[in-house]
Amino acid sequence: MKKLIAVAAFTLLAAGAALAADTMSLPAKNGNVEFNHKKHQQLVGDCKACHEKGPGKIEGFGKDWAHKNCKGCHEQKGAGPTKCGECHKK
Ligand code: HEC
Ligand code: HEC
Ligand code: HEC
Repeated sequence: MKKLIAVAAFTLLAAGAALAADTMSLPAKNGNVEFNHKKHQQLVGDCKACHEKGPGKIEGFGKDWAHKNCKGCHEQKGAGPTKCGECHKK
């Protein structure tokens, strides 16, 4: 029984991960942001850090969300880009 549950959990996890591309180009007129989703999944661990309501499209995603959450975490951790040109590449 335990084994069955483990397999089911793994399948769910794999399905969630398979739905999202490893890297995404987030469009912005001042230069698209190349976002390594897979790396962040491993780095951050908790999907809920970005997907408050569960995996999938993020409600209200855009400039304000990104500058608060993406830049916010990089500043807090002292790792990851915090300058405009480090995220927005023309
Ligand atoms: C550091 C932030 C971050 C973390 C952590 C994160 N994601 Fe995402 N994820 C994003 C962003 C940004 C998008 C694109 C959002 C949008 O377009 O609305 C996204 C999109 C997705 C999508 C939809 C892909 C599509 O093309 O529609 C899925 C599914 C997903 N993530 C699953 C996960 C799972 C499962 C985890 C945890 C293992 C996870 N994410 C962790 C930021 C993150
Ligand atoms: C919860 C913390 C956290 C969040 C949220 C987060 N990041 Fe990061 N990010 C990091 C850390 C830590 C690094 C540094 C990784 C390293 O140095 O290996 C990083 C590195 C990066 C890099 C440098 C290149 C790379 O892939 O290593 C880019 C670009 C980036 N993040 C973009 C984003 C974007 C865009 C978002 C929002 C959609 C985001 N990050 C959200 C923690 C976060
Ligand atoms: C940590 C990465 C990161 C940093 C640093 C960052 N941005 Fe962004 N920015 C983003 C993301 C992600 C989006 C949302 C892209 C989307 O909605 O597809 C965005 C959106 C924007 C938009 C809206 C673009 C559009 O087409 O609507 C503007 C303007 C912008 N940023 C300007 C700036 C400026 C100016 C700075 C420096 C002060 C800056 N950004 C720093 C990641 C970043």
